[in-house]
Amino acid sequence: MNQRPIIALDFPNKQEIEAFFTHFPQHESLFVKVGMEIFYQEGPAIVAWLKDQGHDVFLDLKLHDIPNTVERGMARLAGLGVSLTNVHAAGGIDMMEAGLAGLHKGTPTGARVPDLIAVTQLTSTSEAQMHRDQQILTSLQDSVLHYAKCAQTAGLQGVVCSAHEAKKIKEHTSENFIRLTPGIRPAGSAIGDQKRVMTPQNARKAGATMIVVGRPITQAASPYESYLAIKEAWEEQ
Ligand code: C5P
Repeated sequence: MNQRPIIALDFPNKQEIEAFFTHFPQHESLFVKVGMEIFYQEGPAIVAWLKDQGHDVFLDLKLHDIPNTVERGMARLAGLGVSLTNVHAAGGIDMMEAGLAGLHKGTPTGARVPDLIAVTQLTSTSEAQMHRDQQILTSLQDSVLHYAKCAQTAGLQGVVCSAHEAKKIKEHTSENFIRLTPGIRPAGSAIGDQKRVMTPQNARKAGATMIVVGRPITQAASPYESYLAIKEAWEEQ
């Protein structure tokens, strides 16, 4: 798999995304992540607009509800033509299966069914917090692995995980099970609020199959140059 780095469009409105895109050549097709902030502000129209511009969309809304609600919600999201979307593995195998069923039902005939991946433990969750708040008393890594196996059992295409867990997940699932990792920082760049970060090269070596990068590109003085440098580092063998 040789996916472009996914750019997290963490902006409050469409105008700021338009301004951000002025730094890129007009016909450069990007893989972008639409999260809660921009989706709740602009609605589904933002996805249609990004697709019109020639970009692929990862819709990062992390659904977590009863299976029936997730199935119906996913059926609606499938109609937007996104490439990738997600749920929380903590919702359980039945909920993940329902999400997948919803995506299949909602995808227009002839169109590609979006890939569905599961969030394992959020990278902002520490082991101590997991013990205290979720009362999951295993190690964090065991919990992540367990959730990854549940996602595979449910028929999902992969998980969101920290690059530090990607290798183990690959060993316990399969080579082509998506390991999408945020917390990517080029060598020498600001870490911000991320705790466990990796360079693009090391993420690939650690077993990541897709990376999500936000601030190192969106806040850069030259976003396109930063994007190209990260892409090159990611694709380096
Ligand atoms: O700016 P930065 O590169 O840290 O952005 C990372 C993106 O990935 C943000 O949109 C953040 O919400 C998202 N993300 C994350 N950790 C997760 C899941 C998503 O950082 N576990």
